[in-house]
Amino acid sequence: MIDPLGNASRRRILLLGPPGAGKGTQAKRLARKFGVPHIATGDMLRSAVAAKTDLGNRAASIMARGDLVPDDLVIDMLLERISNADAAPGFILDGFPRTDAQAEALSSELGSEGLDAVIFVDVAEDEIVRRISGRRTCPAGHVYHVTDKPSRDGDYCEVDGNELALRPDDAEGVVRNRLAVYRSQTEPVIDFYAKAGSVLHVNGLGDPNEISGLIHEVLAA
Ligand code: AP5
Repeated sequence: MIDPLGNASRRRILLLGPPGAGKGTQAKRLARKFGVPHIATGDMLRSAVAAKTDLGNRAASIMARGDLVPDDLVIDMLLERISNADAAPGFILDGFPRTDAQAEALSSELGSEGLDAVIFVDVAEDEIVRRISGRRTCPAGHVYHVTDKPSRDGDYCEVDGNELALRPDDAEGVVRNRLAVYRSQTEPVIDFYAKAGSVLHVNGLGDPNEISGLIHEVLAA
């Protein structure tokens, strides 16, 4: 059940959208605003890959191809993360759920309290390709864009000084596969939430500050 956000002091917000739609950019802002953690399964998996954990070793080649990591691995990882004390007041979910099975697992974990809002950030495919091909990230996950959000320190992260790079799965052929996977496996999740309550649609094209404003408008409506 999706509760109207206005009646909830808790903030459990889910951001849905295609790869490169700006979910991470907006999720970080929402997390800061509401004082709840930004929980991004992509970031968690990339940390596991970098740390060469069992999960990371199993996920590495799958992520490099742009395919989805198996549901059982991702569901266990996510449910453990949201059971942490810091997520008790709420969380901003980004990148999960990506399949109907993941959505059902989350729904059964949250029970009748459910989510407070589901936001779909909509961006056309040509803009997605432009954004992803220009994205540069540092090993700690700080995100830039070569023209739209360049680092003040050139090829180095202005937060921690690490060298910026193209994410391995941001290579053109992999992005095409990520988009195909999104259409076949993740788009049905939007219907899952539409049937359960309401999905708030936000046009993700425009300045990130304007998009934050649109998100706050739909949350307040
Ligand atoms: P993940 O890391 O979740 O990748 P994604 O969903 O493809 O999302 P992105 O990080 O590419 O984009 P975003 O929407 O967050 O956009 P961002 O804000 O960075 O997943 C990676 C992989 O992990 C998956 O392929 C899969 O293998 C695995 N995985 C993860 N979760 C999984 C799950 N649940 N199940 C199974 N496997 C899973 O912005 C993009 C760029 O655009 C940036 O450069 C940014 O600066 C720029 N930008 C942002 N907003 C704007 C704007 N308004 N205007 C112009 N530029 C903008």
